[in-house]
Amino acid sequence: MDSIIKIFTVKSKLHEYPVIIGNNILKLILDDDAFKSSDKCALFVNKTIYNLYKELLESTFCSYKKCEIFIVKDGESVKQFKNSEKYLSKLLKSGYTRNSLIVAIGGGVTGDFAGFVASVYMRGIKLIQVPTTLLSMVDSSIGGKVAVNLSSGKNMIGVFYPPVKVITDLNFLQTLNESELRNGISESLKHAFIGERDLYELLEKGTFEDYKKSEFLKKVVPLAAGFKIDVVSKDESEKGLRAILNYGHTAGHAIESYKNYKGISHGEAVAIGMKIVSEISNKLGFISNDELNSILKLIAKYGLIYSNINFNSDKIIEHMKYDKKNKNDQINFVLLKHLFNPEINCLVDNKVLKEVLENNK
Ligand SMILES: NC(=O)c1ccc[n+]([C@@H]2O[C@H](COP(=O)([O-])OP(=O)(O)OC[C@H]3O[C@@H](n4cnc5c(N)ncnc54)[C@H](O)[C@@H]3O)[C@@H](O)[C@H]2O)c1
Ligand SMILES: [Zn+2]
Repeated sequence: MDSIIKIFTVKSKLHEYPVIIGNNILKLILDDDAFKSSDKCALFVNKTIYNLYKELLESTFCSYKKCEIFIVKDGESVKQFKNSEKYLSKLLKSGYTRNSLIVAIGGGVTGDFAGFVASVYMRGIKLIQVPTTLLSMVDSSIGGKVAVNLSSGKNMIGVFYPPVKVITDLNFLQTLNESELRNGISESLKHAFIGERDLYELLEKGTFEDYKKSEFLKKVVPLAAGFKIDVVSKDESEKGLRAILNYGHTAGHAIESYKNYKGISHGEAVAIGMKIVSEISNKLGFISNDELNSILKLIAKYGLIYSNINFNSDKIIEHMKYDKKNKNDQINFVLLKHLFNPEINCLVDNKVLKEVLENNK
C-alpha cells in the first residue's frame, strides 16, 4: 500500500527540509523540485540494495534519461577519503554540473559517503537521502552530518550539509537482517532513554519480533526519528543540546576502537556503553535502582548485548581519552539525571568509572 505516515520539518541554518516517512514512497522523488529542475541525477545506490530492489529502482528511474545509477559497495571501507575522489572524477567525466542532483539510497555508509561527495562537488550540489537501514532512518539520515574516514580516524573529514529532502520508505526494512535491525534498535532505545517518553512506553510493550511488523514500524520509526529531528533542529551544529545524542557513545566508541571494529557491532557497543553510563548515573545517585533496572531490562529484552566482551578497563579508558568529542583532555560523559533527563559534559571520577567498567567486562 502507498502511504505517507508522517512529514517532519528539520530546521537548518542553510535551509529547512522535510523528512517524509511512509510506505512505498520512493517515487515521491520524481515530484521533488530538486529532481525536476536538475539537469542530471546520480543515484548512489548501495550494492545490496541494488541487487534486492533492481526492479523497483529501474522502473522508478530508468525512463528518465538524466538518471544514472552509481553502485556503492558494501561496508565501512567505502567511506575512505580516497574513494570519494574516484566518484567525484566519475561525476565530472559524466558531465555533472552545479545543477545536478545526488540521491543516496542505502544505509548510513552510503548516506555519509554520497552526502560528502555532494557537499564538495563543485562546492556543493543538491542531495536527497533515502535511508534503507533502521539506523539510517532514525539516526544518520537526519541532521546533515556527512563524512568520510581517514585511515587514522572515522568520520574525520566532513561537514554539515543538509539534504533537500529525506525519503524514509519503511518497505526497505522488510529485507534488513536481524543484526542490522539491532543496530537501529540500539539508537532508538537511546532516544527513548534520553527523552522520548512515548517511544519508551512503546518499547516497553514491544518485542524484538515486533520490529519485523509493519504496524509496529509505522509507530516506532516516526517517534525515534522525530526525537532526533527535534534535537538537531534546536542545535544543528552540536554547540550544546545535540551532544545528548552521544549517550552511550563515549564508552561504545572506545570499545569498538579497542576491538578494532571487529567482532562487535556498533549497536552492541552502544548498548554496552548505555549500560555503563546508566550504572555510573546510578552509582552517583542520579537515577534510582528502579530506573536503572528498567533501562537494563529493555536493553536485555531487545537482545542488544550478545557477546562476551573481554576488555582491559585501563585500555578502554585510554581509548575514551582519544574521542574527538572530548575537551581539555578530559573524558566527557552524557549521564542521566533521571530517566529522560540527560546532562552533557559530565566528568566522572576515575575510581567510579573503573569499578563500573570492571563489572561489565
Ligand atoms: N551522519 C550521521 O549523523 C551518522 C550517524 C550515525 C551513524 N553514521 C554512519 O552510518 C554508518 C552506519 O550505517 P548503517 O548502520 O546503516 O550501516 P550500512 O550503511 O553499512 O548498512 C548496513 C548493511 O545493511 C545493508 N542494507 C542496507 N539496507 C538494507 C535493506 N533495506 N535490506 C537489506 N540489507 C540492507 C547494507 O548493504 C550493509 O551491508 C557508519 O559509517 C556511521 O559512521 C552517521
Ligand atoms: Zn551510534
